[in-house]
Amino acid sequence: MTIIVTGGAGFIGSNFIFYQLKHHPEDRIVCLDNLTYAGNLSTLASVMDRPNFRFVKADICDREAVNRLFDEEKPEIIVNFAAESHVDRSIEDPGVFLRTNILGTQVLMDACRKYGIGRYHQVSTDEVYGDLPLDRPDLFFTEETPIHTSSPYSASKASADLLVLAYHRTFGLPVTISRCSNNYGPYHFPEKLIPLMIANCLNDKPLPVYGKGENVRDWLYVEDHCKAIDLIIRKGRVGEVYNIGGHNEMKNIDIVKLICKALDKPESLITYVTDRKGHDMRYAIDPTKIHNELGWLPETKFADGIKKTIQWYLDNRDWWEEIISGEYQNYYEKMYANR
Ligand code: NAD
Ligand code: DAU
Repeated sequence: MTIIVTGGAGFIGSNFIFYQLKHHPEDRIVCLDNLTYAGNLSTLASVMDRPNFRFVKADICDREAVNRLFDEEKPEIIVNFAAESHVDRSIEDPGVFLRTNILGTQVLMDACRKYGIGRYHQVSTDEVYGDLPLDRPDLFFTEETPIHTSSPYSASKASADLLVLAYHRTFGLPVTISRCSNNYGPYHFPEKLIPLMIANCLNDKPLPVYGKGENVRDWLYVEDHCKAIDLIIRKGRVGEVYNIGGHNEMKNIDIVKLICKALDKPESLITYVTDRKGHDMRYAIDPTKIHNELGWLPETKFADGIKKTIQWYLDNRDWWEEIISGEYQNYYEKMYANR
């Protein structure tokens, strides 16, 4: 069968493509990505020549290009990773988030309707639930937790989720949605917390921690996320939302200190900077539904995953140095220079 993976030149999408090609070599994977600042073709270099893989540079908002691709490939499944994904950028410039994350989703689903596609899967996020208080460790996000967004990014992802559910109910489109917690692992773009701290440590640069560093995220190794999506698209129930997370809550400051220690760098590099506007306090997923229905459990413990991740950034300096030496420098200046 043929699966179209949108946003496959980004962090999670590329890891998902590697997962599919490894575990389902009988399937054909077509990656559709318009290579924004976050998309990197070199990430896909190792699979580019595979006979069952094709890369197509196109925008998910480009209806004509999307329809043409569906016409050519006659896919059975669409997995939509394509998105503007960075909260800080959404605070600077919300417009492109609304365009890609909402209208792009609509274009893909319209094509699914037109070509009678078997499954549309929307890769969503736990950020659609808003945040939880630090003093209520007993609370977790379930699939029934009301949508309550904080940033333009999360509002755009929540809007897309509502649209996906509306296409299911109104048009009978066979959809599934997954809402995952924070991922980490290889090919994570260096604007995000973990790779940014690794890169800055290796360059002996200050480590900018927002606010007091007390915010909590629920970290999951990217391959475990890919495995969960693979189960959902093959065995998940149509019309359902599945939360994905591994009960691995950590404070930002503890992650940064752990990275300093692993790279033998002094904690004096840590610099507390002005907090993110509207900064969500705590995310924590209850993954009971996906565990009970699909038997999913995370396989990589954080202690092992972070070790593997740090080693990957040590072994693949070319990949991230190339990124941070380009346009990224302007972004970094703008976001951090006077913070
Ligand atoms: P990313 O920013 O690393 O990659 C996004 C990819 O989408 C890039 O390759 C980019 O070129 C592509 N893209 C952007 N706009 C496009 C457009 N208009 N047309 C075609 N391609 C486009 O993002 P990521 O961290 O890999 O996240 C992937 C998905 O998973 C997103 O939908 C995000 O909301 C969701 N998610 C991410 C996390 C996380 O921790 N990173 C957790 C939960 C959910
Ligand atoms: O929860 C899932 C979400 O996780 C995804 O939907 C998003 O696409 C993804 O980017 C991620 O969002 P976060 O905002 O949680 O991730 P980020 O890496 O940007 O920040 C993690 C935490 O670290 C957050 O509390 C802000 C803080 N932070 C981040 C950066 C970049 C810092 O303290 N300093 C920084 O320089």
